[in-house]
Amino acid sequence: MDSFGGGAAFEREAGVGEKPEPLVLVTGAGGSLGRAVVDALTALKARVRGLGRRAAPEPFRADWRRADLLTGDGLAAAVDGVGAVVHCASDPRRPSDDLAALDRLIAALAPNRAHLVFVGIAGIEAAAEKFEYYRVKLECERKVAQSGVPYTIVRATQFHPFVDLILRKLSVGPLLFAPRMTLQPVDIGFVAKRLAGYALGPPRGRVPDVHGPEALDTGTLTAEWLKARHQSKIGIRLPSIGPLAALARIQRVDGDAGGRTWSEWLAAEASGESVYSS
Ligand SMILES: NC(=O)c1ccc[n+]([C@@H]2O[C@H](COP(=O)([O-])OP(=O)(O)OC[C@H]3O[C@@H](n4cnc5c(N)ncnc54)[C@H](OP(=O)(O)O)[C@@H]3O)[C@@H](O)[C@H]2O)c1
Repeated sequence: MDSFGGGAAFEREAGVGEKPEPLVLVTGAGGSLGRAVVDALTALKARVRGLGRRAAPEPFRADWRRADLLTGDGLAAAVDGVGAVVHCASDPRRPSDDLAALDRLIAALAPNRAHLVFVGIAGIEAAAEKFEYYRVKLECERKVAQSGVPYTIVRATQFHPFVDLILRKLSVGPLLFAPRMTLQPVDIGFVAKRLAGYALGPPRGRVPDVHGPEALDTGTLTAEWLKARHQSKIGIRLPSIGPLAALARIQRVDGDAGGRTWSEWLAAEASGESVYSS
């Protein structure tokens, strides 16, 4: 259930249809979230442009600009005429690059004061000490808030495919190594719809965190994951030390909940349906 007045009500509140819609640029439009945001904006009949370092993913039904936020190559042309940006580009393998890329993006948006919608990660403050990527995400939020460009900061919890990826990595033969954690896995399609609504509305500063409908501990996350795969494994609980202890400190958030549950997403994924909810 949507707790933020979703669907048409949300779109009206966000301003869709009240005035000429801005051209919305989606950075990282070839990535998991970026693609879904492009789809959500397209479904709202918004004007959309995707930005990525590579060629447009196939199929891609919007305008596409090749640009690198880190070097600035192609960026001026990509932001030309843009009224809002949903910033989905990120490189967790090189976290500090995200800071430099954000600086370039803010500088490119400043002359026209385009609305910057930034995607943060929910509940990570207490875990950030052990993860550079989390520290960078929080620093990026501070940069956005102090940038002088109109902004909306939307934090989301862990996306379903990301939780799935973690469990795959922790799965070794008949063993499933699992750290203690409680997550609120969220549907990418639900997050994307929220981001699209915000991009088409006025800047709002920090808005309620977007999260999935359930908070699931390690036992439930792994049990549902194994059930969907018709597998059984020997669960090995990893000791809560170092980065694993930090994972356990990811905080539960109470904000804008909705989208498919973890088990619904697992069932859809197992049956080959779209991993995004429409
Ligand atoms: N995954 C989660 O569970 C989760 C949860 C909450 C929030 N978030 C946030 O959501 C955002 C999107 O995550 P995601 O999972 O969709 O990531 P993703 O699939 O890895 O997509 C990131 C995209 O950013 C692009 N990119 C990276 N550096 C770039 C640069 N310098 N210039 C242009 N494009 C660049 C990448 O392009 P290339 O293909 O060229 O590398 C990629 O297409 C991130 O800000 C992330 O922190 C993620």
